[in-house]
Amino acid sequence: MQTVNTLGTLREAVESLRATGPVALVPTMGALHQGHLTLVREARARGAQVVASIFVNPRQFGPNEDLDAYPRRMAEDSRLLSEEGVAVLWAPDVAEMYPQGFSTNISVTGVSDNFCGASRPGHFDGVATVVCKLFNQVRPDLALFGEKDWQQLAVIRRMARDLDLSYPHVDAIYGVPTVREADGLAMSSRNQYLSAEERQAAATLPTAMRAALAAIAGGTPVADALASLRASLLAAGFSSIDYADLADAASLEPIAAPGAVPARLLVAARLGSTRLIDNMPLG
Ligand code: PAF
Repeated sequence: MQTVNTLGTLREAVESLRATGPVALVPTMGALHQGHLTLVREARARGAQVVASIFVNPRQFGPNEDLDAYPRRMAEDSRLLSEEGVAVLWAPDVAEMYPQGFSTNISVTGVSDNFCGASRPGHFDGVATVVCKLFNQVRPDLALFGEKDWQQLAVIRRMARDLDLSYPHVDAIYGVPTVREADGLAMSSRNQYLSAEERQAAATLPTAMRAALAAIAGGTPVADALASLRASLLAAGFSSIDYADLADAASLEPIAAPGAVPARLLVAARLGSTRLIDNMPLG
């Protein structure tokens, strides 16, 4: 695996890869877990050479969020990616990604407005801006993202469509199903912030979500199922709930009753200072 830190070397490395077949991009912020490694495996299973990026993107963190505390483990991450057969690791520093005077912002309205967009103002502008840059830098044939960040995936898909990024690159953006711990908790780099007690309580999140989805599928009104979900989380020790809603899976508009469009249950809740998110399909 070749590790590159400057745009010039990245371009050279990717051009040689492209000569041998399709190139896949797996963007990450590091602190890798099985969810990330599954993205790499999926990319390789599609016959692509993988460029993985590790960049803790300051523009997607709010002023009081965990940018400084966000886990950074470059040596360990690099070993894991190399073992998975990644061809190129793109690991720019902040000055390489955002040179002096950088002043462009990509804002995807609509899909960004609710849920994490409302509870983390500016977050999706930061995500869209860096992902657009990563697409332009690597010019991958395909890119893979975890479905755990369902709204992020919707924002990226909308941006790629609106900005015509599919030609000459990013022909396909794949969402890969969430990888879970044995007790159902969605894998996340932030799970390591949890104390032993919080980690135990965290497993209530997927269980309560499944119960809410089963209730809705069984005819319980959405508002009642969501109220029980919120009550279960608070009873289990969650300190607050940013949102717990059923939404149109594509537009991310909240929906009050199941209908013809695919729906997704989306939750963000806090255990102490750790914010956990999860989502599951209805039906
Ligand atoms: O999901 C993430 O890890 C980040 O939001 C991403 C897509 C790498 C952009 O910084």
